[in-house]
Amino acid sequence: MYQEQTTRKPITLTALAKMKRNREKFTVLTAYDASFAALLEAAGVDVLLVGDSLGMVIQGRSTTVPVTMDDMIYHTRLVANGCRTALLMADMPFASYATVDQGVRNAARLMQEGGAHLVKLEGGGWLADTVRQLSRNGIPVCAHLGLLPQSVHKLGGYKVQGREEAAARQIIDEALLLQEAGADMALVECIPAELAARLTEALTIPLIGIGAGASCDAQVLVSYDMLGITPGRRPKFSKNFLTGCDSLQAAAEAYVRAVKSGEFPGPEHCLA
Ligand code: KIV
Repeated sequence: MYQEQTTRKPITLTALAKMKRNREKFTVLTAYDASFAALLEAAGVDVLLVGDSLGMVIQGRSTTVPVTMDDMIYHTRLVANGCRTALLMADMPFASYATVDQGVRNAARLMQEGGAHLVKLEGGGWLADTVRQLSRNGIPVCAHLGLLPQSVHKLGGYKVQGREEAAARQIIDEALLLQEAGADMALVECIPAELAARLTEALTIPLIGIGAGASCDAQVLVSYDMLGITPGRRPKFSKNFLTGCDSLQAAAEAYVRAVKSGEFPGPEHCLA
C-alpha cells in the first residue's frame, strides 16, 4: 500500500471537485504529527486535516477554544513534514479571523509557516467578506457550518444543528453565500442526514460531513476517534475502525474502504 501511495499524484482541489462531479467519495482524517500523516497518507486518505481538535485529543483541554495560532502552525508544520501527496487543510483557531485583515494575516501564516494548502474557518454568512478576501489572495478556504465547536460556550453545548426547517434553510443559504464568496469546500458537523443530502445537491463545491450522514461528498473523523483512543465516550457518529485490524494503518485503510464504498457512515451513525 505504501508503495502505491508514494506514486500517487498529489491531491488537488481540482481533483476533489472532479470526484464530486463523478459522485466518487473522498476521505479526510485529522492528523497532528508527521508519523500519523505518513501513515494515513499511506492508507490512501485524500485530505489530512490539522484540526483544532488537537486542543482536546493532544493537549487534553475540554474544548478547542484555548488553541492558539502558534499551536496550529506548529502542528501543521509537523504534518506537512510527513505528507507528500495528501491535500493539507488546517484549522484557523478560535478568534483568529475576527476581522477580515486578521483572517488574511493568520491564514497566510498557516500556509507560509505551516505549509497548509487550504484553511478551514467556522461560521456562517458573516464570513463572506473574509472568504472573498482570502480567495482574492489565493488562499483556498473550507467553510465549516452546522455545529461550530469554537462557539460551544455560545451554543450551550455540542448539539445537533439545523433540526427545524428555518435553521436548516439558514445553513443552506449561508453555505451558498460562502460558496459564492469563493469557498472551495464546505464541511458540516452534526446536522440531520436529510439536511446534508439537500446541501450536497445544492452546492457545486465538495461537501465534507461529520455526523451528517452518508450523502456528503466526503467524510471526516477525528483520527483518534477512528482508532478508539480518544478518552471518554465515543461520539455516536464515529466508529472504531481498529477493532478487528492488526495495525493502525490497516484501520485507516478500512476507514478509506468503508467511506469510498458508502458503507460508512451507516444509519446507526446518523443523528436525528
Ligand atoms: O477540529 C477538527 O478536528 C474538526 C473536525 C471535527 C471536522 O474540525
